[in-house]
Amino acid sequence: MERLDKVLANLGYGTRKEVKALVKSGAVEVDEVLVKDSGMNIDPEKSEIKVNGEIIRYRKYIYLMMNKPDGVVSATFDNYDETVVDLLDEEYQVFKPFPVGRLDKDTVGLLLITNDGELNHRLISPKWHVDKVYYAEIDKVVNEDDVNAFKRGITLDDDYKCLPGKLEIVKADEDGSQVYVTIQEGKFHQVKRMFEAVNKKVVYLKRVKFGGLDLDETLEEGEYRELTEEELNALKEV
Ligand code: URA
Repeated sequence: MERLDKVLANLGYGTRKEVKALVKSGAVEVDEVLVKDSGMNIDPEKSEIKVNGEIIRYRKYIYLMMNKPDGVVSATFDNYDETVVDLLDEEYQVFKPFPVGRLDKDTVGLLLITNDGELNHRLISPKWHVDKVYYAEIDKVVNEDDVNAFKRGITLDDDYKCLPGKLEIVKADEDGSQVYVTIQEGKFHQVKRMFEAVNKKVVYLKRVKFGGLDLDETLEEGEYRELTEEELNALKEV
């Protein structure tokens, strides 16, 4: 059970004081009964709450998949740049969500955004070895030596030795290469630095998979949607 004012405040209907006034004004019904006491206890999962005649959907957590666009930072707030949270509608922003891990400003693709701190922690902890798959375009010819170097574990410019990574070549010719890279870590600029270690440059980077979650290719860059129950379960099973 939770206090009605807390539930409504969490859903973005204002401060407790504002919510109290709202309830007093007769705008709120619980299970078809007009209520006036904002301190009443309700079961938000079971009760039907209406505000101004509209049923509101209660949930504690939201889970969104975004196809992150180029030029936007993976943060909740930034002094200069637009953030992925800025791109969300108000109905989602009230949950105070944050991105799970980070993609570089110029990296596009799958980004999970949630307010579930526990799941976030689990997904970004190096302990859990969550696979992240990136599609990358590289300026030069990627070859089997690179595949083997990734498999052994690349040593970055700061002497950090990466866990073994999987490198799959889709296409490689004098125009450059298209590859898929699977890593389980998330060091700063990791994929770009792994290629720098083999004297190559990433010219385009897109995350296509995160744990059990695949990027929904019908999402245009900058678009997002809630995860389906199936997707959420797959993510939690990681
Ligand atoms: N590796 C990078 O270099 N950049 C990203 O955004 C993600 C992985």
